[in-house]
Amino acid sequence: MKFLGLSGSPRQGNTAALLSRLLEGAASCGAKVKSIELAGLDIKPCTHCDLCLESGECVINDDMQGLYKELETADVIILASPIYFMTVSAQTKLFIDRCQAIWVRKHLLGREPLGPGRQRKGIFISAGGRDGKHIFDCARITVKALFASLGIQYSGELLFSGLDKAGDAACHPTALDEAFKLGVCLMGQKSDR
Ligand SMILES: Cc1cc2nc3c(=O)[nH]c(=O)nc-3n(C[C@H](O)[C@H](O)[C@H](O)COP(=O)(O)O)c2cc1C
Repeated sequence: MKFLGLSGSPRQGNTAALLSRLLEGAASCGAKVKSIELAGLDIKPCTHCDLCLESGECVINDDMQGLYKELETADVIILASPIYFMTVSAQTKLFIDRCQAIWVRKHLLGREPLGPGRQRKGIFISAGGRDGKHIFDCARITVKALFASLGIQYSGELLFSGLDKAGDAACHPTALDEAFKLGVCLMGQKSDR
């Protein structure tokens, strides 16, 4: 099982810590894990050039080309983003919009969006500084739409409000343990932690 973690925060903060812990849980059960920081990549915005409409491929030559390949070979994709102004971070949204070419494969070309032979699972991780049950609503809708377009089953989420400073997840009574356990659970095993 290959786990691909995509971190959409520009800092080593709460979502990065949660993602890292989830991957540690999965790796402890034998998963092959890879984590990529979107903020460190050159991902240009989608220009709506429509050149993907016939091929299902994006013509923009930047680091997203490598990410398309990573997505195709992953079994579990974990997208981690902080909440910025009630939705995902700009770094995360750049990645999401560039998945339009994959959307085309499914909806216009009738192809398996990420290729055949795998039942992919998707997990959404997020943290917001404010308290309140609605702070994840917009981001969740966006990520669910992304996963659906990519043929990825929305299979779980770790959403924590009230985490603002970079180290807050580490001080939370359960957050990192929950992340580890989810990683174990996704490998089909029970966590004894
Ligand atoms: C530009 C910006 C916008 C933010 N907007 C929100 C918001 O709308 N709601 C919220 O609860 N927190 C908001 N926050 C706080 C972050 O979501 C919070 O600090 C979170 O823990 C950051 O995650 P990270 O540590 O993984 O980067 C915002 C922070 C920044 C920098």
